[in-house]
Amino acid sequence: MRTNLIIGGSHGISKNLVALQLAAGEKVICLCRTAETIEAHPNLKVFNFDVMTDEISSIGLEAEFESLDSFTFCPGSISLKPVARVQIEQVIQDLNLNLFSALKIIQSILPALKKSPRSPSILMFSSVIVGMGMPMHTQVGIVKGAVEGFVRNLAAELSPSIRVNALAPSLTETPLAGTLVSNEKMKQASIERHPLKRIGSSEEIAKLAYLITSDSLPFMTGQILGIDGGMSRIRA
Ligand SMILES: NC(=O)c1ccc[n+]([C@@H]2O[C@H](COP(=O)([O-])OP(=O)(O)OC[C@H]3O[C@@H](n4cnc5c(N)ncnc54)[C@H](OP(=O)(O)O)[C@@H]3O)[C@@H](O)[C@H]2O)c1
Repeated sequence: MRTNLIIGGSHGISKNLVALQLAAGEKVICLCRTAETIEAHPNLKVFNFDVMTDEISSIGLEAEFESLDSFTFCPGSISLKPVARVQIEQVIQDLNLNLFSALKIIQSILPALKKSPRSPSILMFSSVIVGMGMPMHTQVGIVKGAVEGFVRNLAAELSPSIRVNALAPSLTETPLAGTLVSNEKMKQASIERHPLKRIGSSEEIAKLAYLITSDSLPFMTGQILGIDGGMSRIRA
């Protein structure tokens, strides 16, 4: 049985990813701040954990698995503001959430991932914005750009034993994108910007995430995969 560790699982894309992994008969361990909101399942273990304050060593994960087949890191931020209002301290906070906390966890679970005989995978999340550029997005660009650099170089270092990839979604209907999708005018403007004339759903992003965390794509590593309604590549 494949064993997956996810930071997230309570809402958004990660909730749908967990559902797909459980439906495939896999074991899932979720770490997030609202573990009590996740529906129980015999193959699921949840822990309350905040990547900004908690240490992975404090929750006794060694008892849950000897080897680990996938790690998916879902916490992220969408901090939009004009460059004149970007504050270095806030950028560092976003880097802590999106990247440095992931780095610390990956360092501690590497031995377990290396023991997997089933094409182990690390999956991170970038954003469409790194590959295209938009006003008000410099903070997100710095942070997710760093995530992409990390993913490619980690993939090189861990090859051939562990695959490392990232998804780069465009606007997707989740709690994280709350203010952007709850304002009808902003949502409509975003729909119009996408060549496919819609925004993403967490279910479809999770389907791609599932393919990568499973052993279906053992030849893929070092990739940043756009799933963005065509926004990063085409003008319709
Ligand atoms: N949604 C979009 O439009 C969009 C666009 C481009 C890129 N992305 C990226 O895609 C990824 C997933 O996005 P999403 O929209 O699914 O996000 P989301 O709805 O905020 O879900 C994030 C998951 O991570 C967990 N999490 C957040 N902060 C945490 C913390 N400090 N400690 C532990 N767990 C934490 C959340 O659980 P708890 O709240 O229970 O802790 C939740 O399960 C993010 O990296 C995001 O930047 C999203």
